[in-house]
Amino acid sequence: MTARHPYDVIIIGSGAAGLATALGLASAARVAVLSKEQLRMSSTSWAQGGIAAVLDAEDDLEAHIQDTLAAGAGLCHEQAVRFVVERGPDAIRWLVDQGVHFDTEAGPDGHPRFHLTQEGGHSHRRILHAADATGSAVSGSLEERVRAAPNIDVFEHHVAIDLVVREKLGLEGSGCTGVYALNRHSGGVEVFEAPFVVLATGGASKVYLYTSNPDGSTGDGIAMAWRAGCRVANMEFNQFHPTCLFHPQAKSFLISEALRGEGGLLRLPDGERFMARFHPKAELAPRDVVARAIDFEMKRLGADCLYLDVTHLGAEKLTAHFPNILRRCAELGIDIVKEPIPVVPAAHYTCGGIVTGLNGRTDVPGLYAVGECSFTGLHGANRMASNSLLECVVFAREVSADILSQLPLNTMPTPAPSWDESQVTDSDEDVVISHNWDELRHFMWDYVGIVRTDKRLARARHRIELLRSEIHEYYSNHRVSNDLIELRNLALVADLIIQSALNRRESRGLHYTLDYPETSPTPRDTLLTPSPLRLDALAMRRWQMQ
Ligand code: FAD
Ligand code: SIN
Repeated sequence: MTARHPYDVIIIGSGAAGLATALGLASAARVAVLSKEQLRMSSTSWAQGGIAAVLDAEDDLEAHIQDTLAAGAGLCHEQAVRFVVERGPDAIRWLVDQGVHFDTEAGPDGHPRFHLTQEGGHSHRRILHAADATGSAVSGSLEERVRAAPNIDVFEHHVAIDLVVREKLGLEGSGCTGVYALNRHSGGVEVFEAPFVVLATGGASKVYLYTSNPDGSTGDGIAMAWRAGCRVANMEFNQFHPTCLFHPQAKSFLISEALRGEGGLLRLPDGERFMARFHPKAELAPRDVVARAIDFEMKRLGADCLYLDVTHLGAEKLTAHFPNILRRCAELGIDIVKEPIPVVPAAHYTCGGIVTGLNGRTDVPGLYAVGECSFTGLHGANRMASNSLLECVVFAREVSADILSQLPLNTMPTPAPSWDESQVTDSDEDVVISHNWDELRHFMWDYVGIVRTDKRLARARHRIELLRSEIHEYYSNHRVSNDLIELRNLALVADLIIQSALNRRESRGLHYTLDYPETSPTPRDTLLTPSPLRLDALAMRRWQMQ
């Protein structure tokens, strides 16, 4: 018997986007928040540098807008940029009201004011932060509020598998009315039903071998939305962060761009500075430029890593502003006060995603997307540092307002079919799953990474086609597990990235190809549209009518 959970709104994901949306709804709606691990396990919790907003009298909104447009290399939607930047100060006030403590300092009048730091691409100091663990401060405060809200139920260790889309199941009506989710404790599949479903599932950087992201960044929301009939855009623009710690025991540890903002210098193994050769802003050039320069120098020298030197910043500043980076490096035997930090680029942020309007609505009625899984037009071909948390909060507030304006609904959707596993068996060869995971992430790194060519992309396309058919066959015949769900989604997202990269016959922002090194004079988005929804044989076999 499939367990059923009826709600007004189901939110899939518990990062800044999901939790802020839930809090915006809690006054007037019964909300379920699903999270595939503990609530706190998200990119949001790992965010370091901070959140960008114009709060300094010497800064102005227009400067933040122009910086974002410049970083986005001609592909940002100006309307979306203005929309987000103008709502930035209000989003910060909302976060402060939720209990988030940002670092302050004494202003010229002796009163405390926010301490603002600097990052690449920003022409002013405008990054609010909580030392070097801003994400933890944000998610901690939002989590506390969500857990205390009587109208919000939290379902940790529940992995969304697929959206209930009525057309696909041959049911009456149209649109999304729920989601099937694997309860990782019981091993059973449950159905969550609601007239509104919000995808807040984060990005897909786990598609690459080296990433700054937590394990759960597998693009589940983008894959589910595509299967449900939503368009996706600009999936070729995956951002590589220039400086992740290079150490055998340091999986996914980021060395914040704020260190460069405060004066950190990039050096070759022989100590030479090199960034000025690549961009007039040197270490504070946009992220795509810095990552490509590091990649170029590593390949030219055959080096395993390059170095970020912060020794001249002094122990006092490093201890005050970067205590977590200092501590983590010390645990690994690197004293950043005295020696340079070994760094390499790693996949960091998915600029493309599910196409939404400025109210978060997707192409499927009842389905919303918010945060890193969405494509709002804000980031263009390269996201500017610290604009992501801002985007999460601004659009979470828009999505909750849009849903609240439609409540209460007088009709309840007809129940979704039960999940039926009578025709599948337990996974007999988990090695197939782990092997395919490794293969996928390796070839994406080698062929669809920082520097691309048509030949490498064609190789990747060939491999992804084989992998996807193997994974489809496996998925059709075996019970779902977390690894299998994630692998299926990663393979689909990898395919979307490869298709998008093949479509873009120019170099722009994060997409750099040796075959088309020039930037086209007419910027255009890469829009991919799924085939029209039809009855899905696999879905029907799994989800038999009661
Ligand atoms: P996330 O925070 O990633 O949350 C996604 C949630 O969805 C998780 O709870 C996950 O468990 C859940 N989920 C996913 N799939 C499923 C599923 N199938 N079923 C159920 N739940 C699911 N940005 C900035 O603006 N400033 C920074 O300083 C900054 N620093 C960063 C540092 C690091 C190390 C990283 C990795 C990112 C950083 N970013 C930063 C980017 C920013 O943190 C993210 O883009 C942002 O937090 C994304 O928020 P989100 O809510 O969209 O997704
Ligand atoms: C960082 O602290 O370098 C990450 C900032 C971001 O990704 O926005």
